[in-house]
Amino acid sequence: MEIKNQQAYVGGIPVQELVQRFGTPLYVYDGQAMVQQLEQLRAAFAVPLRIKYAVKALPNITVLKWLRRHGAEADAVSIQEVQLALRAGFRPDEIMFSPNCAPFYELAEAAQLGVQVNIDNLPFLERFAEQLGRSVPCSIRINPHIRAGGHEKISVGHSDSKFGIPLQQLEDVKKIVGRFNLTINGLHIHTGSDIAEVRVYEQMADIFFSVIDDFKQVRFLDFGSGFKVPYRKDDKALSIHKLGATLSRRLAEISLQKNRRLELWVEPGKFLVSGAGWLLATCTVVKETPSRTFAGLNTGLNHLIRPMMYGAYHDIVNVSNISGPQRTYTVVGYICETDTFGEDRLLNEVREGDILAICNAGAYGHAMASNYNSRPRPAEVLVVNQKASLVRVAESLDDLLDGQPEVDL
Ligand code: LLP
Repeated sequence: MEIKNQQAYVGGIPVQELVQRFGTPLYVYDGQAMVQQLEQLRAAFAVPLRIKYAVKALPNITVLKWLRRHGAEADAVSIQEVQLALRAGFRPDEIMFSPNCAPFYELAEAAQLGVQVNIDNLPFLERFAEQLGRSVPCSIRINPHIRAGGHEKISVGHSDSKFGIPLQQLEDVKKIVGRFNLTINGLHIHTGSDIAEVRVYEQMADIFFSVIDDFKQVRFLDFGSGFKVPYRKDDKALSIHKLGATLSRRLAEISLQKNRRLELWVEPGKFLVSGAGWLLATCTVVKETPSRTFAGLNTGLNHLIRPMMYGAYHDIVNVSNISGPQRTYTVVGYICETDTFGEDRLLNEVREGDILAICNAGAYGHAMASNYNSRPRPAEVLVVNQKASLVRVAESLDDLLDGQPEVDL
C-alpha cells in the first residue's frame, strides 16, 4: 500500500475508489507485489530454483493463474488443492502434493494424475510401494527434529510433531524401497512458518547431505518454506538474499561431493502473498469505555483469524484519515466473542465510517475465513496494471443456505 498526497493506493488505485466500487469488508491484492516477491526470490539463488507456491495461503484461482504466468509452480496439501491447481493451468508435473493424514486414495489419485506425491508416514509409503511403486516414484517428507518457526501451532518439524517421517525411521524407508523396488525421487523437509534464521535451512541441508547416499534416485531437495516476512516495521524477517546464497552454495557442495545432479525446490506461501494483501473494513462504531477506546469494524475473526489464533501482529492503517491526530485504539471485530485485531494501537483518529486497512492479509486471510456468526465471506479483488478485478464475489445469505435442504421433520 502506498501513501501519496494523503491518499492510500493499492497497485496505483486509490483505496477509497476500491471501497466505493466493491464495498467492505473486502480483501484486496496487489498482483505486481506478488511478482516482485517471485523475482526477488529467484534473483537470490545462483542455481535454478523451482518455486512451488503453497496454494493454501491464498487459493484464489485467478491468483494461481497469475503466479503461474510468472513462473511459479504449485504446492498442494489436499486433493482439492491439486484439482484447483490443475484448473488454474498448472501441469501435473508442476504440482507437489504433500498431504498429512489425508486418506490414502488422495495420494493414489494425485499419482495417477501425474502429480509429484510426497509421503510422510510409513504405512502409506508401504501401501504406495505395493500398489503403485513399480511405475510411479514418490518423494518423502522427513521430520528433521528441528524446533523452528513462530507460534507453536505452526512449528511442525520437531520430534513431537505429526508431520514427516522421523529420521530414526529412515531405515524402515530403506527396507520398503528395497522390498518393492520403489523409486524415491526427492527429499522434503518443512519445519514450520515464520522462520527468521537461515541457520534452520542449513540444518536441513546437513540432514539431506547425511542421508542422500541412501537414496540414489533422488533428483530434488525440497526445503519447504516458512520464510518469515515482516509483519511490523522493526520485525526481523528471513534474509532471502542470505538464504539464496547459502542454499545455492550448499546445493553445489552436495552435488559436487556426492556427484549428483540435484534440483532445489522451495514452497513459499507467506513470502509471495502475505504483504500483497489487505483486509479493508469500515469502522462501525467508536466506543469509549472507562478503560479504553474501541474501534469496532464490520469484520472479525471470521474473516481474519491470525491475530486471535496465533497472537499475530497485523499493522492497521486508517486510510480515511491519513494525517489526522493520533490516538490509541483497541481495534476489534463484530463477532460475539473477543476478536481483537490490535490492542492499544496508535492510529490516526478513527471516526465512524472510516476505512481501516489490516495489513499482511494476503496469506492465510481469506483462505482461513469462515461463516461464523452466519456472516458471509468477503469479496476478493486483484489489482494488476492499475486495473481492479473482482476475483471472488462476496457471499450472501443465500450462499449460506445453499446446500441446507429444508427438511420436513
Ligand atoms: N509447505 C508446506 C508443506 C506447508 O505446510 C506450508 C505451510 C508451506 C509450505 C508454506 O509455508 P509459508 O511460506 O506460508 O510459511 N496459517 C498459518 C500458517 C500455516 C502454515 C501451514 N503450512 C499462519 O497464518 O501463520
